[in-house]
Amino acid sequence: DWNMPDYIAEAVAKIKAQVGNEEVILGLSGGVDSSVAAALIHRAIGDQLTCVFVDNGLLRLNEGAQVMETFAKNLHMKVIHVDASGEFMKHLAGVSDPEQKRKIIGREFVEVFQRESAKLKQAKWLAQGTIYPDVIESASAKTKKAHTIKSHHNVGGLPESMHLKLLEPLRELFKDEVRELGVALGLPADMVYRHPFPGPGLGVRILGEVKREYAELLRRADAIFIEELRNTRDADGKSWYDKTSQAFTVFLPVKSVGVMGDGRTYEWVVSLRAVQTQDFMTAHWAHLPYDLLGKVSNRIINEVRGINRVVYDISGKPPATIEWE
Ligand code: XMP
Repeated sequence: DWNMPDYIAEAVAKIKAQVGNEEVILGLSGGVDSSVAAALIHRAIGDQLTCVFVDNGLLRLNEGAQVMETFAKNLHMKVIHVDASGEFMKHLAGVSDPEQKRKIIGREFVEVFQRESAKLKQAKWLAQGTIYPDVIESASAKTKKAHTIKSHHNVGGLPESMHLKLLEPLRELFKDEVRELGVALGLPADMVYRHPFPGPGLGVRILGEVKREYAELLRRADAIFIEELRNTRDADGKSWYDKTSQAFTVFLPVKSVGVMGDGRTYEWVVSLRAVQTQDFMTAHWAHLPYDLLGKVSNRIINEVRGINRVVYDISGKPPATIEWE
């Protein structure tokens, strides 16, 4: 039980005392944790904080523009927007193994982030949105040496070679507290309550080799799916977006035959995925209404030239995983 204004005042005082007049850098991913950490630190030290936002070419539609609008324009924060998509695509060319792709995306991120932060010569601190469950998880991973099915990595874990002191103001908070804090700090509720998005982004939602063309089609198809989920309302005023834990579109590098007007098409397939879960360790596929699925399918096929077939994933976890890779 906590009082938000008091909590913020206390956290702000603590950050000020820790950092003094030194400069801080933070890797902004657009996700909840790094966003809330950024907003809190900015409340404490203003322009002593510089955020670095790396566009890896694997983000959702308009995500870069939204991050800049929220943080730079509305919250007046210093944000460096790095378009590294060309670099990421180059390193991913010809690679189709999922774990290999994760490694490349993680490694590239560290490289780009380090290069950008090296330009900020004054920086003494590296801020991260580590939250309490991350602290627990990494402690238990060390003792249990857990068997990894997928090597999850987030923006965190930047190498010690950066010689920066770590600033982690969310270390004691649970996810729901982080969200509450984010709203209290003025972040848009839509951002704070967004479904989780994996660190490797669309890199693990494009099966096999990642290509810019696939990413562009997938982004547009996925934006339609999410928009339609958000546009529904049940009797309690909840949307299907609220009622699912994670929903997204997967690009299948498979072509199938279709008809359009009086012509034959031979185009790509996407799969919709929507799950309900408490802990993401097990999950059920969401029983989305048929008319909603139909509307999404029609819109994707009509509006995204290059996709002529939409399927719905009805696999539970286990035995399937939530992501396809
Ligand atoms: P799976 O697919 O293993 O996913 O059932 C469980 C949850 O983890 C997310 N996920 C990732 N998150 N880096 C991340 O930061 C990753 O490499 C990664 N792989 C999966 C997935 O989106 C789901 O929420």
